[in-house]
Amino acid sequence: MIEFHLDPGSGVSPYMQLVRQVRQALRLGLLREGDRLPTVKEVVAQLAINPNTVLKAYRELEHEGLVAPRPGVGTFVTRTLADASLAAHGELRKDLRKWLAKQAGGAGRREHRGAVHDHLSDRRAGGHSMTAVLQSRGLGKKYGKRWALSDCTLDVPAGRVVGLVGPNGAGKTTLLSLAAGQLTPTEGEITVVGGRPASGSEQLTKVGFVAQDTPTYARLTIAEHLRLGARLNPRWDDGLARDRVARLGLDLRQRAGRLSGGQRAQLALTLGLAKRPELLILDEPVAALDPLARREFLQGLMEAVAEHSFSVILSSHLVSDLERVCDHLVVLAAARVQVAGDVDDLIASHHRLSGPRRDAARLPDDQHVVSESHTDRQSTFLVRTDGPILDPAWTVGPVGLEDLVLAYMERKPEHPALEAVR
Ligand SMILES: Nc1ncnc2c1ncn2[C@@H]1O[C@H](COP(=O)(O)OP(=O)(O)O)[C@@H](O)[C@H]1O
Ligand SMILES: [Mg+2]
Repeated sequence: MIEFHLDPGSGVSPYMQLVRQVRQALRLGLLREGDRLPTVKEVVAQLAINPNTVLKAYRELEHEGLVAPRPGVGTFVTRTLADASLAAHGELRKDLRKWLAKQAGGAGRREHRGAVHDHLSDRRAGGHSMTAVLQSRGLGKKYGKRWALSDCTLDVPAGRVVGLVGPNGAGKTTLLSLAAGQLTPTEGEITVVGGRPASGSEQLTKVGFVAQDTPTYARLTIAEHLRLGARLNPRWDDGLARDRVARLGLDLRQRAGRLSGGQRAQLALTLGLAKRPELLILDEPVAALDPLARREFLQGLMEAVAEHSFSVILSSHLVSDLERVCDHLVVLAAARVQVAGDVDDLIASHHRLSGPRRDAARLPDDQHVVSESHTDRQSTFLVRTDGPILDPAWTVGPVGLEDLVLAYMERKPEHPALEAVR
């Protein structure tokens, strides 16, 4: 069976990396007709990545006619790529399909995809993929005279694992606390899973919130935490909670104060998951953990997403923490949203241009400069554009997610705010 690996610095989106690895394995004869691809859960467990990423890759391969699902059994290779020409054929068909989709318009496209991919989109969507899990309009929060969050307008689709990234003091906790109903806005509006935060007990059952610094009660045992959770949450899944505690090798009689940082974070995650929320919000859940504990934490979270399909928003001041797990990103800096969008779209629409020295003002109107640097003779721009880059003077390269986020975080205030990518 194929074993996937991910290269975070490649500038190629994770889902495309998986697609390419399968194509490559087919071309090399490492995968043959009838071979089974690893299940989504297997890939998630192996790479600690977002299940949606795997689903998307498998959907793409299915589109290309390379694999097909057998319901309840797995996804199997249906064809062997004897030579590169077949792969080129796939690309061609993809272009043709895109063109057809455009002709048919948005609704037609969805129908088409739905018909072909029912078995996959079903579980991903959980019935509500097209609705927003978080929507805000001109949302702001002021402490005294200072805005902790300002003019925040977002449409975050459901069914995603959303990374909220920004430096310390950017306003992440403020935004997440507003979403969880722990703060009230100074101005603007916010809707979370279809309701107003803090609007009542129904809203509370729909949204799980794991606050910064993994809040647990030092003097309570794990068993007491679970009993408390069961009492406070009508949808409490005690089986899930006990199963996770057992799998983590934790002792129910242990007091939370005696646990390691990683175990405490896992306990807080368990409490959040056992609520069975539609949306789980986690504020800097891995900030205090060592690399191994980080990976185990995110792996547990991704396995839960694969199993129960709910939406997740988690924050970090480092994009490298979240790169593997997020399929949607919101970059916050200086109290404002700098950019937001699906990771694949962000990667596809940002490019690094380098060539002879040129002034930013002389770039075409549809190329928005995110960052620029110049030497005497040379200019390098990081631009966002949906169109092709035709100027032969430029060497065009991809932008990795980390560089992309850093560029937005370091953007000088004199740059006009870019319209968020949706
Ligand atoms: N309770 C508070 N009172 C006054 N200022 C606050 C309060 N909470 C946060 N702030 C300020 O709001 C800004 C955003 O904070 P926060 O949302 O905690 O950022 P982050 O979570 O991204 O580090 C910071 O400048 C912080 O100092
Ligand atoms: Mg914070």
